[in-house]
Amino acid sequence: MVKERTHTCGALRAAHIGQTVIVQGWASAVRDRGGVTFIVLRDRHGTVQVTCDERAPDSERETAKKIRQEYVVQVTGIVAARQDSAVKKDMETGEIEVIPTDVEILSGTRPLPFTISDDTDAGEDTRLKHRYLDLRRPVLQKNIIARHKAAQAARRFMDDQDFLEIETPCLTRATPEGARDYLVPSRVHPGQFYALPQSPQIFKQILMVAGMDRYFQICRCFRDEDLRADRQPEFTQIDVEMSFAPRDMVMRIGTGLAAAMWKKVTGVDIGDVSTMTWHESMDRFGVDAPDLRFGMELVDLKPVLGDSTFPPIANAIEAGGILKGFRVAGAVSDSSRKVLDGWTTFVRQYGMGGLLWGKVQDDRSITGPLGKAAGEAAEAVLTALSAEPGDVLAVGAGDYDSTNAGLGRLRVHIANARDLIPENTFKFCWVVDFPLFEKIEGGWTPMHHPFTAPKPEHMEWLGTDKMGDILSDAYDLVCNGSEIGGGSIRIHREDVQHKVFEALGIEEEEQQEKFGFLLDALAHGAPPHGGFAFGFDRCVGIMTNSKSLRDVIAFPKTTSAQDLMSRAPGPVDAHELAELKIASTVTADA
Ligand code: AMO
Repeated sequence: MVKERTHTCGALRAAHIGQTVIVQGWASAVRDRGGVTFIVLRDRHGTVQVTCDERAPDSERETAKKIRQEYVVQVTGIVAARQDSAVKKDMETGEIEVIPTDVEILSGTRPLPFTISDDTDAGEDTRLKHRYLDLRRPVLQKNIIARHKAAQAARRFMDDQDFLEIETPCLTRATPEGARDYLVPSRVHPGQFYALPQSPQIFKQILMVAGMDRYFQICRCFRDEDLRADRQPEFTQIDVEMSFAPRDMVMRIGTGLAAAMWKKVTGVDIGDVSTMTWHESMDRFGVDAPDLRFGMELVDLKPVLGDSTFPPIANAIEAGGILKGFRVAGAVSDSSRKVLDGWTTFVRQYGMGGLLWGKVQDDRSITGPLGKAAGEAAEAVLTALSAEPGDVLAVGAGDYDSTNAGLGRLRVHIANARDLIPENTFKFCWVVDFPLFEKIEGGWTPMHHPFTAPKPEHMEWLGTDKMGDILSDAYDLVCNGSEIGGGSIRIHREDVQHKVFEALGIEEEEQQEKFGFLLDALAHGAPPHGGFAFGFDRCVGIMTNSKSLRDVIAFPKTTSAQDLMSRAPGPVDAHELAELKIASTVTADA
């Protein structure tokens, strides 16, 4: 019979010695030593040892012998002090043990597919298939608790700042955030579909037009995109929007929100968060989400090597490209040819033609491809890169995008490989002044989304040949090289929104069809407004030092967007498809 517990497993201490208690949980370890059964009982709150020796009634000792790992057990017993030799300092309840007066098995288990422990060697697929067992592992319990704390801290902060928590629909129309939509067929309107929101972007703007002044929501977003360790098809945002707020006011709320969550979960004060422009970030780090936990910044080498006749450099400069590099301090001794070839292969993934690496010798000469390229300018290169004998230099020449991407990511790759990234540090920065548009084949696409406002002084460049120079009041919050949030000041005037759609090549008819309701709203007294969204899973992942977002989501999907436990997605019955007036073109052997 289930009784009301008196304590959780992690709660018992020396102060409870002599008390009769009731504890319940899973048998995380069962050992039989010379007729004495030791059971370590575990629940979310911790573990406690139950010792079934001669102090316990025989009948209960017999029951205890039947207990196997992960059985669910209820123990009524008396808290006793452990013998000195059995005290475990590293266990919170390590000073005591429970001597049972009553042991009851509440539930058994089939043989376990893997052992429930932090260092389990089970493959991830097996763990995801049996997520109910995986989630019992202390590390995942800790992560889920951290996630809860972060969510509560966020809610408290937003409420204190007078934001209203408002829900927006999941069955809606397409929302442009750059990924494919997940579609839901309508039975009532055959042939028509809802789209699951990629974000509540349009709704939150409409809430501003509706006079809600300050909105937030911890909401689910759905994006059908190529998945990576830091992306899930279904993920959670802390979504925020505010009226009458210039950029710095919105960013202040963002910093405060991050600070509240980080303080609650990690105890760390994140302090003031520095700001750098997108251009500066690209120049110094090659990426728009710079990892500031270590050095190795990229340096422009055009001033010292720009006149080189070395073909890779001359060709890149001729084509209007860039030339930059960085130094890896003291790396000569452990940078074999294999390591350097590995760096070259690494940067090629990002479209770079190759890597000009060089080793700085004791006499300050440079060997390797960079030595050849530098020639007479070797000393100037060393000065530009602040290099010393024993350093390895990594230099790239080519177009802006691939050279920055390759070198920027190589910088992080090397820092990881050489263990240069300090643990348990959080380095934040705001990246601001993003270009409004990005060039794509045949036109332009918004760098954030099409509702982001151009800076007022660049407004007149819309639709001209200066489209690429238009900056926006968009901002990303970056932590440890990961974009944890992003947002912008929005367009709040219908005519400007029309102009931006036009500049993006979206015809009037399409504007009305897709965004007519937003344009209508903007035409009915829209306040100036702006906001942002944090990737909540990413925040919790960084706070808990997790390698994958899957470790901070209770029921995540695999990189091929499957839920291995519920086996979603799955086939549906023909009659369900018929009811939706949908026919699949996939054949059994397709
Ligand atoms: P954005 O698309 O930049 O902005 O998303 C905001 C933040 O959400 C996180 N994120 C993801 N996390 C996990 N899996 C994904 N697939 C994924 N995609 C994005 C990132 C990102 O910084 N509506 C705008 C916000 C705004 O302008 O207010 C938006 O959604 O951490």
